Amino acid sequence: MTKIYLAIIFCILSTNIFSQNLTIEKKVNELLKKMTLEEKIGQLNQYNDDNTATGPPTIDNNKADQIKKGQVGSLLNCLGVERTRSWQELAMQSRLKIPLLFGQDVIHGYKTTFPIPLAESCSWDLEAMEQSARIAAIEASASGIHWTFAPMVDIARDPRWGRVMEGAGEDTYLGALIAKVRVKGFQGNKLGETNSIMACAKHFAAYGAAMGGRDYNSVDMSDRMLYETYLPPFKAAVDAGVATLMNSFNDINGIPATGNKKLQREILKGKWNFKGFVVSDWGSIGEMINHGTVKNEYEAALSAITAGSDMDMESRCYKNNLAQLVKEKKVDIQLVDDAVKRILTKKFELGLFDDPFKYCSKDREIKELNNPEHAKIARNISSKSIVLLKNENNTLPLSKNTKSIAFIGPLVKPLLQNKGFWDVELPGVDSNFIVSQWEGLQNKVGNSCKILYAKGCEIEGTDKSGFDEAIKIANESEIIILSIGERRDLSGEAKSRSNIVIPGVQVELFVALKKLGKPIVVLINAGRPLIFNEIADNADAILYTWWLGSEAGNAIADVLFGDYNPSAKLTITFPRSVGQIPIYYNHLNTGRPANSDDNHIYNSSYLDLSIYPKYEFGFGKSYTTFDYSQLKLSKHKIKKQEELEVSMWIKNTGNYDGEEIVQLYIRDKVASVSRPVLELKDFQKVFLKKGESKLLKFKIDKEKLSFFNSDLKWVTEPGEFEIMMGASSKDIRLKDNFELMD
Ligand code: GLC
Repeated sequence: MTKIYLAIIFCILSTNIFSQNLTIEKKVNELLKKMTLEEKIGQLNQYNDDNTATGPPTIDNNKADQIKKGQVGSLLNCLGVERTRSWQELAMQSRLKIPLLFGQDVIHGYKTTFPIPLAESCSWDLEAMEQSARIAAIEASASGIHWTFAPMVDIARDPRWGRVMEGAGEDTYLGALIAKVRVKGFQGNKLGETNSIMACAKHFAAYGAAMGGRDYNSVDMSDRMLYETYLPPFKAAVDAGVATLMNSFNDINGIPATGNKKLQREILKGKWNFKGFVVSDWGSIGEMINHGTVKNEYEAALSAITAGSDMDMESRCYKNNLAQLVKEKKVDIQLVDDAVKRILTKKFELGLFDDPFKYCSKDREIKELNNPEHAKIARNISSKSIVLLKNENNTLPLSKNTKSIAFIGPLVKPLLQNKGFWDVELPGVDSNFIVSQWEGLQNKVGNSCKILYAKGCEIEGTDKSGFDEAIKIANESEIIILSIGERRDLSGEAKSRSNIVIPGVQVELFVALKKLGKPIVVLINAGRPLIFNEIADNADAILYTWWLGSEAGNAIADVLFGDYNPSAKLTITFPRSVGQIPIYYNHLNTGRPANSDDNHIYNSSYLDLSIYPKYEFGFGKSYTTFDYSQLKLSKHKIKKQEELEVSMWIKNTGNYDGEEIVQLYIRDKVASVSRPVLELKDFQKVFLKKGESKLLKFKIDKEKLSFFNSDLKWVTEPGEFEIMMGASSKDIRLKDNFELMD
């Protein structure tokens, strides 16, 4: 009986959803019939607002007229409910009253800023990352935003590329899981709920593989590499229901992504059956002229619309050329209609036709942008994103009885630096809602400990005149905390660096302080892996604090004093030298692997440097220690349709409660194409009280043993596999083998 009831309910529900979509589809088709060609092209046209530009700006001084004539479909960088309301009111004066979409780079928080995405990915805490995106959506939607240009899901293996800060690191498996939860966080249960916003998986595709780590540079790779490493996070986002994608500036094997029919039509809208829409990245349609694949904007518009770029961000190529292309029958009106329908469908799903001002509530904006709950959650996620790289002689956590601290460095007191590159410059929102590192330490110790401050030096430049003051206060203190690193705008878009060292004289300041023989804890603030071998080899403790956002100071203090035991692990490799790049953990073995630091000849090593990174993927320390034991496989021979059950015990063998990220790697020993020396295929983040043990269970199915073969077929090949349980990709604690039968 229950089954019958369930079946009936399922039918009613699915009919309801189907009928709702049918209703939207019907409405879209009805509206389309009324639209002129100019109004259709208007929907494909997106302008930047006039206040902040996130690309080379083109100023139109007649935006208002164009909006009133229905010649604009969307605006980006509009901030605050007043501003979005005023533009929307103009759109309501147009003939068909089609509402505008407001898009914004809400990358890691709106007013409450969370750690930069790369930092957050080091938490390996999928729930936390979903929650962070959820709060960003609640705040942004309260402020009139319908659509965020996030998550950036580009796999990145080159820290010279400034945009590594915006993604989830180098691993495809983890990157795909993070793409999914960030999309879910932004979009919530359903588009149309007032606190849900459209997400945008970007930049499609392989933008992170820019040659030389130089932003916007060419990408050249095999289709197999593209399919295996760079596309899966986009597929995960599409499978999670992402509303939009943004294509990328780069060419792939000579074809600009914006004009890449194979990517956007064959794969995305064909094979993956993506029903949302694709927005070009800022001006990228027109930039195909620079790429040299089109002669002029007329050809650029033809190439882009044919390839499946639906909305034109800021290039004006569609606005200025599409009508002529249609009239000259170079572009079939069906292509334009398809793009328009995709965009209108999202506007209906968001409920903007029912109420164009549903996201414009001043009361909601005030309430949500100052919600103390958000700050509390941000503080916790920030603590979870701090990576403990070194802790000699248990320098950390600091004792609560510490009486004097010298807090030194150019990043101790700044506020906005903690927000990283992609911060939303909110109108009328002062930056004092950010907790500086100085304030965070004050909040923590109160009057129990004397904290002395000296800047020591600037982030950049050669001036060492501040060293004396720093040395003086260090001599008066029990311990030195040195906060150094990059400026926040030394990573991010168009922020590639040929050498990724800590700038200025900050390392020299460290050396000068180290000579005093006092314990020295170094906080490294950056949007990317930096190279800091001198500090790595000589500091007593190192916390990689990235850019942690609004609650940076409190989160850092929580970790320094052990109120949060650091649990984060690196999701991107830290090289010893720029000369090692590209360097990543899941590399192939080669025919002459160098398996040690002995640089003997005739193997794949350097004469002048180790081939191993400074810190490997998956590395991160804790204030406690964990023991891995009793790895058990349910079988040592499995058939393709069977699942392998893996179990192991983990014990907290130290003096602090803590969390451990247990990583499961596999190696496919022999296959039709060479396979990586190890690949992450599962993980569990587990909390253990000191002395506590837990049994962990994992499942390996054929999906996790499959790969794209040389014909780009997703295959599972029989043979021997190695399974490794690691505390990092190098610190393998347990291993075993199993055979996959035919
Ligand atoms: C920028 C970035 C893109 C961003 C867009 C809008 O050029 O490449 O990630 O979403 O323009 O700001």
